Amino acid sequence: MAIIYHESSQTFHLTNGCISYIFTVLKDGHLGQIYFGAALRDRPDLTHLLEYQSSNQSPYYYVDGVEDYRFSPNQLKQEYPSFGLGDLRQGAIEVLQVNGSRYTDFRYVSHRVLNGKPTLEGLPATYTEADDEAETLEITLTDPVIHTDLVLLYTIFRDQPAIARSARLVCRNPEGIVLQKAMSASIDLPDADFEMLELAGAWAREFHMHTRPLRPGIQSVYSLRGHSSSQFNPFMALLRPGADENHGEVYGFSLVYSGNFLVQADVDFMNVTRVMLGIHPEGFSWPLAGGESFQTPEAVLVYSDKGLSGMSRAYHKLYSTRLVRGYWRDHERPILLNNWEATTFAITEEKMLQIAGKAHELGIDLFVMDDGWFGARNHDHAGLGDWTPNYEKLPSGVKGLAEKVEAMGMRFGLWFEPEMVNEDSDLFRTHPDWILHVPERPGHLIRHQYVLDFSRRDVMENLYRQMSAILREAPISYVKWDMNRSMSEVYSAALPPEQQGTVYHRFILNVYALYERLRNEFPGILFESCAGGGSRFDPGMLYYAPQAWTSDDTDAMERVRIQYGASVVYPLSSLGAHVSAVPNHQLHRITSIKARADVAYFGTFGYELDPNLLSGEEQEAIRHQVAFMKRWRRLIHQGDLYRLINPYDHDGEGAWMVVGADRREAIVAYYRFRQHVSAPLTRLPLQGLDPGLDYHILYSGETELPEPMGGDELMHYGLITSDYPSEIANPAYEPGEGDYLSRIYILKAD
Ligand code: GLA
Repeated sequence: MAIIYHESSQTFHLTNGCISYIFTVLKDGHLGQIYFGAALRDRPDLTHLLEYQSSNQSPYYYVDGVEDYRFSPNQLKQEYPSFGLGDLRQGAIEVLQVNGSRYTDFRYVSHRVLNGKPTLEGLPATYTEADDEAETLEITLTDPVIHTDLVLLYTIFRDQPAIARSARLVCRNPEGIVLQKAMSASIDLPDADFEMLELAGAWAREFHMHTRPLRPGIQSVYSLRGHSSSQFNPFMALLRPGADENHGEVYGFSLVYSGNFLVQADVDFMNVTRVMLGIHPEGFSWPLAGGESFQTPEAVLVYSDKGLSGMSRAYHKLYSTRLVRGYWRDHERPILLNNWEATTFAITEEKMLQIAGKAHELGIDLFVMDDGWFGARNHDHAGLGDWTPNYEKLPSGVKGLAEKVEAMGMRFGLWFEPEMVNEDSDLFRTHPDWILHVPERPGHLIRHQYVLDFSRRDVMENLYRQMSAILREAPISYVKWDMNRSMSEVYSAALPPEQQGTVYHRFILNVYALYERLRNEFPGILFESCAGGGSRFDPGMLYYAPQAWTSDDTDAMERVRIQYGASVVYPLSSLGAHVSAVPNHQLHRITSIKARADVAYFGTFGYELDPNLLSGEEQEAIRHQVAFMKRWRRLIHQGDLYRLINPYDHDGEGAWMVVGADRREAIVAYYRFRQHVSAPLTRLPLQGLDPGLDYHILYSGETELPEPMGGDELMHYGLITSDYPSEIANPAYEPGEGDYLSRIYILKAD
């Protein structure tokens, strides 16, 4: 791995033998993008790849009476473009100056190469543990007219086809400037022959995969909700023609941020695709006085020549080992039972102990008490903001209950929704101005709640005091941190007019700060982020909370689609997935307890039901499932994921598998939503196995198929998934079992 600088051509080449990222200092001092993709051989000068073009309507170079028609910033591929001087496409940066101008012109000054990777103050980011895991290039550019520096950071990782980028603005202007837009990264790709993949949806329909060919103009995903949202995830992939799950070239763009974002691809008049991602400029402005600086969040760019799955595995490895931090990064995640769908707000100590007791009997590690334990929280109209136990429901408080659960030999977890408040709460009655609201205008509610003004330090401090008091007092091993509404009326009573554009970003910085403080004070606690399901499921959150509740939709079949989409970027070790009761709360669909578990295994496993209400047979099934997950969770969370059947393409089927690092063990899951009569034969070609090994196949984790199969057979012929070929005595061939069928196969080499 190296960051090579060729002085003669002023060219930077970031390469790790797998990818190359190349750019140069152009003759006007701007940075020109040359190449991003599969590794190229290094050469002292790669600037012949630059394409100088000129056409009518493009401003060209004119300095000291010399005209150079071929040098037009509007037609050169740029690294971090400014709008409005030579380049008329959308820029990555906009700065409002005292004279009213918004133009900037940052030119190269110097650079240095650092071992490892510096942290980004106050922001989540990927990191290194040893200096030789990555190198970072820090380039300083300056705009002398506005006395402001732009520092671009590029990190290349030794073991991943990934580049992390961010930008920092350093204001030296005594008059100050106002940042209106500062994207994390921008790159001009040489053409527009791509399909764009996005993860879009809604509450309880998160992470649905959508693709479309790029067209001239802007195509984007974004959030203006104050959180990354389930409507769009802060991610986009661009797939070359013919690229699919396992083949071809794919570029991934992922933003390590949890607030308003914009990820866009802008195809210009020369078919150049300008991709940029960062904080959404709408509603954003950030005044900088002389001596102050602004650091953007980080963007992680991945290049894969092994299709979408290659890109996903790169994100999985990087995010699960060098974004997620702390004790829980490397330890097996507990199997939990959460009481929400079992009781909703009807919490009593007795009920909680009954549920926890049964859960313990079935082998479950952790009992989580969800919403309803605090203040006047008997329904969703009251109580948010008052994080003290409701002693009518819990006579011995959270402490007493947690101690009793611990005494059973189980861990105890607790739900919070720190950023929210109900009008009917002591917190709101005492501090009505602590909510986001616009003076003299009516506010809007979602789920009967307001958003607290977390841009205020005093509000964040109050929540810190309330939360830490409980976490200090009671033996709490897990916190579910919820966030159940999008933000509206984003205005802070505590800030002057010129600072109102900072509120969204300050809000999320203080959420990060509160997380950081609690993590540091309680390093053993496992945090799970949640936002009415997956409405703030993003890389930024993973830096603080290694797992996230993927969706409030717990129906097994819907979850195949949701988890499949989420796995495009996020590791299985981050996907909260639970078995819930049937008929399903969201859909009223009935699926078997086996199918529900077979889907939930591919995430951080748990239950969302009252086990006392289940039959003896179902309880026995749970006992088996828990034992099964304990046996296989390490492989599932740390192995390589291969998606086998895309449930968005094949209406009615889905499949995936996880392979261990040494390829001696694998676990395969097949799901079928609908059964057909006289269904044709079906096979499932596998991926990632060792072709030279023979694998014993355990069907349903228990019954061994009579013949081991070669890795080559399994990958090129496939596992037979047909129903009922009666003449073959093979226990995996079942008669059709109706709709919502699932099968799990364990593969083990001798
Ligand atoms: C959100 C969460 C649920 C549950 C409820 C409690 O919807 O996603 O899991 O915690 O809030 O109100």
